[in-house]
Amino acid sequence: MKIAILPGDGIGPEIVAQAVRVLEKLKADGLAVETVTVPLGGAAYDQYGEPYPEATRDVVRTADAILLGAVGGPQYDTLPRDKRPERGLLAIRKDLGLFGNLRPAMLYPELAGASTLKPEVVAGLDIMIVRELTGDIYFGQPRGIHVNDAGEREGFNTMRYSESEIRRIAKVAFEIAQKRNKKLCSVDKANVLECTEFWKEIIIDVAKQYPDVELSHMYVDNAAMQLVRNPKQFDVIVTGNIFGDILSDEASMLTGSIGMLPSASLDANNKGLYEPCHGSAPDIAGKNVANPLATILSLAMMMRYTFAREDIAKRIETAVQTVLRQGYRTADIYEAGTQKVSCSGMGDAVVAALA
Ligand code: NAD
Ligand code: IPM
Ligand code: MN
Repeated sequence: MKIAILPGDGIGPEIVAQAVRVLEKLKADGLAVETVTVPLGGAAYDQYGEPYPEATRDVVRTADAILLGAVGGPQYDTLPRDKRPERGLLAIRKDLGLFGNLRPAMLYPELAGASTLKPEVVAGLDIMIVRELTGDIYFGQPRGIHVNDAGEREGFNTMRYSESEIRRIAKVAFEIAQKRNKKLCSVDKANVLECTEFWKEIIIDVAKQYPDVELSHMYVDNAAMQLVRNPKQFDVIVTGNIFGDILSDEASMLTGSIGMLPSASLDANNKGLYEPCHGSAPDIAGKNVANPLATILSLAMMMRYTFAREDIAKRIETAVQTVLRQGYRTADIYEAGTQKVSCSGMGDAVVAALA
């Protein structure tokens, strides 16, 4: 297993360090792992003047899988757009063709009280958001800020999806639904946006190949509401890049904290980049208080999707459940009666549980 490690910025290095300890434990137990650490985002800009430099590109292109912390920070927000950390992240996703973003929102029963929603609303929650990751308004041209015909400054972006882009993400989503409860909800804004009306048309066409999957459609505004009203009505959700970005952050709170939500970003051959759904959390960076579990759970996803090692994925997920059952909590999921631990303290607990 050749794994590239990209700690990134903010809390990135702190949370990735805990996942690397998990990896080292697996290695000590005999797993053949080889890791190379390279910068991405602000850390790469500081070192090379580019958020996705050639040195990083060379390593990630030949790695089997990539583990990323997070990128971004206020000190980079005034750089020219092409030098900003977020551009580095978008560039690596596009460069490696990582179009399939899986964001599983699963509630560990131990965290039912950590969610801001009522326990009965979230108990037993297990949904999979399939977000298209290399198209949409994120990448559509034209884009920019210019002076329009009326002589006024104007900002613009373009929402675009090609048929092949929709077909390939639909295939990913239907196949995942087939392995789960066979329910797929496609989220769009077809009542207003032609691009997503087209999305819906293609999804309906692809559905003919999956007669065993029950397909439904929902407008994104309603979906945002339904996710907090009755999230358990969903099994798999498939949606475009921008809607998926927003809905997955919303769904993270159903699991107790954004610090719990992992992700996989896959190409057509299951090569993948694995990262927590959250960002670099500049407000808590450097304090050793961030929740590393989303990153550790992203490592579990790597074992499952890229390396087809369901056994190791389960071992990591079981260790996470064990530490939650033992009562260990970082600040974001802390409740009275549990034991508050630091980021590295949570890492200690997970490594101990693995043993
Ligand atoms: P954020 O996800 O970084 O933080 C939102 C809130 O959640 C903050 O209060 C933060 O402290 C908290 N939080 C996030 N992760 C946590 C964790 N593991 N444990 C405990 N609390 C956690 O979102 P933001 O503040 O909007 O963005 C901050 C920076 O991160 C920006 O530069 C943004 O562009 C970047 N970002 C990067 C990624 C990524 O690398 N994939 C994702 C989202 C945002
Ligand atoms: C995420 C992030 C990124 C996105 C940003 C940092 C480019 O919010 O991974 O969810 O919007 O995709
Ligand atoms: Mn996001």
